[in-house]
Amino acid sequence: METELAASSQNPLLDVRNLKIQIHTDIGVVRAVENVSFSVHAGQALGIVGESGCGKSMTALSIMGLLPGGNAKVADGQILYNRSDSEIIDLATLKPTGAKMRSIRGNEIAMIFQEPMSSLNPVYTIGDQIMEAIILHQRVNKTEARKRAIKMLDLVGIPAASQRVDEYPHQLSGGMRQRVMIAIALSCNPRILIADEPTTALDVTVQAQILELIKQLQIEFNMALILITHDLGVVREVADDVAVMYFGRVVEHAPAAKIFKNPSHPYTQRLLKAIPRIGSKEELLQIEGSVPSPFSIRKGCDFAPRCLETVQKCKDQLPEMELIEAQHQVRCWLRQDAKSLNDKEGAKSTNNNE
Ligand SMILES: Nc1ncnc2c1ncn2[C@@H]1O[C@H](COP(=O)(O)OP(=O)(O)OP(=O)(O)O)[C@@H](O)[C@H]1O
Ligand SMILES: [Mg+2]
Repeated sequence: METELAASSQNPLLDVRNLKIQIHTDIGVVRAVENVSFSVHAGQALGIVGESGCGKSMTALSIMGLLPGGNAKVADGQILYNRSDSEIIDLATLKPTGAKMRSIRGNEIAMIFQEPMSSLNPVYTIGDQIMEAIILHQRVNKTEARKRAIKMLDLVGIPAASQRVDEYPHQLSGGMRQRVMIAIALSCNPRILIADEPTTALDVTVQAQILELIKQLQIEFNMALILITHDLGVVREVADDVAVMYFGRVVEHAPAAKIFKNPSHPYTQRLLKAIPRIGSKEELLQIEGSVPSPFSIRKGCDFAPRCLETVQKCKDQLPEMELIEAQHQVRCWLRQDAKSLNDKEGAKSTNNNE
């Protein structure tokens, strides 16, 4: 059943609440995403960061109604899409192959995938593939669709677009192919763009150009952007807010400036120390250990086995997300306890001064 609530333009475009995704396999249930919440407004960019296997792609695919096979399911939570002033749709309740989901996917919410070569069809020209996306969702004829395809290629910085529109994917460089993927994603003017590791397959200079392009288009079209990456360095220039995920859970969530100035979760701090900086002589720190098995029984903080600051409570009890300063939430006992102590001392000194 689909939920339709009264919407308002002040509401976020997308509001993910306590999302849980489970994958049923022959050897057990993978809890890929556990109680993840975040929201994005029009014109806002959210970075979702975390190492391999932490549930970033599953989160993205669930929004698109594209969870793999029949074995991955949204087990709980809501994915509220603010479609119009009078309609909020819980995407988690829509049938992935149903007419409503198909009218939203690729049209109102679009996604750019990591590997353009496997997302583009090698036997069709890039023009045909952009036109296909346009014709699928918009009532235009082939001539008009071709005109729009050329305009899109131009927009994403492909030189001589009117000639290259007839080329095949293998005739383009990796960076150009990723630009084509962006053109396809943006061809229907989506309100929400999800980019899952859009630059991982590219070399560093091209990576920077593609990120700049995504950011520029996001601002130009006032889209909500969800940028997914394992690299905190990638979100630095692009994201307004950052959610750091570890083992299926968000462990820190704050405006990007706060994450970079005052990273608080021990995992975020270690991720930041793992970003290479040009000219820096500081040794890059790797995060010792690895993410636990997805089948393991979970007790306490998920990061405790790799954390250098662990105390007994971390091993026994899962911390919830809590505010440690305005707009800055952290899932860590140490930071939360330090904040309560500071608050108490602050209150005591105020009382003493009265
Ligand atoms: N088809 C599948 N069957 C079983 N488990 C899966 C499947 N796809 C993903 N998983 C598991 O779900 C969890 C989350 O995977 P997900 O792909 O969302 O990670 P990710 O954060 O996107 O990682 P990466 O950075 O490698 O892309 C992992 O434990 C992964 O092993
Ligand atoms: Mg992924």
